[in-house]
Amino acid sequence: MKTIIEPFRCKTVEPIRFTTRSEREKLLKEAGNNLFRIKAEDVIIDLLTDSGTSAMSSEQWSAMMRGDESYAGCQSFFRFQEAVQEIFGFQEVLPVHQGRAAERLFFSQTVKAGQVVPSNTHFDTTRANVEALSGQALDLRCKEAADSESDYPFKGNIDLEAVTELLEGKGPDQIPFGMITITNNACGGQPVSLDNIRQYSQLLKARGIPLIIDAARFAENAYLIKEREPAYKEVAIPAIVREIFELADGCLMSAKKDGLANMGGFIALRDPELAARLKDALILTEGFPTYGGLSGRDLEAIAVGLKEVLSEDYLRYRAASAKYMANGLRANNVPIVVPSGLHAIYIDARQFLPHIPPAELPGQVVACQLYLEAGIRTCEIGTAMFGHTDPKTGLEVPAHQDLVRLALPRRVYSQSHFDYVIEGAERVYRRKGELTGMKIVWQPKALRHFTAQFQSLPQAAGTGSEHCPRHGKTLSTAGAGK
Ligand code: F0G
Repeated sequence: MKTIIEPFRCKTVEPIRFTTRSEREKLLKEAGNNLFRIKAEDVIIDLLTDSGTSAMSSEQWSAMMRGDESYAGCQSFFRFQEAVQEIFGFQEVLPVHQGRAAERLFFSQTVKAGQVVPSNTHFDTTRANVEALSGQALDLRCKEAADSESDYPFKGNIDLEAVTELLEGKGPDQIPFGMITITNNACGGQPVSLDNIRQYSQLLKARGIPLIIDAARFAENAYLIKEREPAYKEVAIPAIVREIFELADGCLMSAKKDGLANMGGFIALRDPELAARLKDALILTEGFPTYGGLSGRDLEAIAVGLKEVLSEDYLRYRAASAKYMANGLRANNVPIVVPSGLHAIYIDARQFLPHIPPAELPGQVVACQLYLEAGIRTCEIGTAMFGHTDPKTGLEVPAHQDLVRLALPRRVYSQSHFDYVIEGAERVYRRKGELTGMKIVWQPKALRHFTAQFQSLPQAAGTGSEHCPRHGKTLSTAGAGK
């Protein structure tokens, strides 16, 4: 059969409350045109994030009933540990409550002020946690990543020439470890090839520098390796995963993505001494090392989710549904970043609204319009998130791209939901000429996109945009974490 179907059927459903356009106009106005301030019940299709929003399987729910809530040595931990050891091949496993807790804890024991941590692109919490220790989070994404229309298959790769240059310029004591994010969320969800990980790992190894993988979407990356890297066409997904992680010394994981869980994460390592130090630190903030801030129930859900996510039927369906959304949008001329990955589709708002200058927040305009038109919640990843207001001139300094992320929760929405989103985007696109820019009327000191308030401008004024010096090389990403 040519038709790829959901490899599951629904047993529990969550009703969607339909709102009218006039209701949404009122709600959005009350929320200061900020979609983070809208209540979930007022959203028809929620594509804000793929993090913690997966539907769990009946196996996961039944495993949760087995959750052992003992403070020390709970059985759930050992099942969790065994799953992580088997899939990733690391013996040391420390549970934490989510990805950023893994980052904070791991960096607190490994990064010293002034040290540099290179990566293909750090996710924003990863960057913030390196910077909180006065380290430098360095993004070295490959050159192909800058062209949103290039169909290079591995735009998530790290720039190996830039890595070589960095390693030649710095002593190994200045680089505590190298990181790589698979898939590269901050770079349009683009995958990293196994060849790229291998070469990066060899460069680091030659200088005795460990490699740590940000594994949040490891299964989706493995699937894209199978699809796009000819040498792996016939290799099973779990074997590709093992091959990736054999090249590394450890990983940091947000199980809210490819753990198919609503909460949780872990650090997995080879080095028992480092793990012992981390366990001491873990007790201070997360909890005893056999639960690490999670309940036994959460550990069970992750142990099962990590295995389910490796199912080729599941990944094939996941890829087909992302492609369906991407093709539907493109067929209606909605400009998106290509080739699309699996966890999200990104609308290029500057191409969508060429008459609105970046300083007038075209991404925020598209995101608000999708909500007004059809109750669809997405996430602006552009100037509202990563630009800033120049304190001297009061002018907006834009980010280097204005994207709108349509994140795809796992196993949640069906093809008709996607048709609805495509229709909504097409209707907004048809009216694009009537749309005007926006301005920020209130913003906090940091992480402004979560709470800022916006207002529509009466008409698009032709102000020029500047390249954001702060984000010169970085393609920004979401911080829609819960
Ligand atoms: N690493 C990557 C690549 C991520 O995408 C995220 C979260 C994290 C680490 C942090 O994990 O949320 O469990 O603390 N990304 C979410 C998103 C928030 O919407 O893309 P966390």
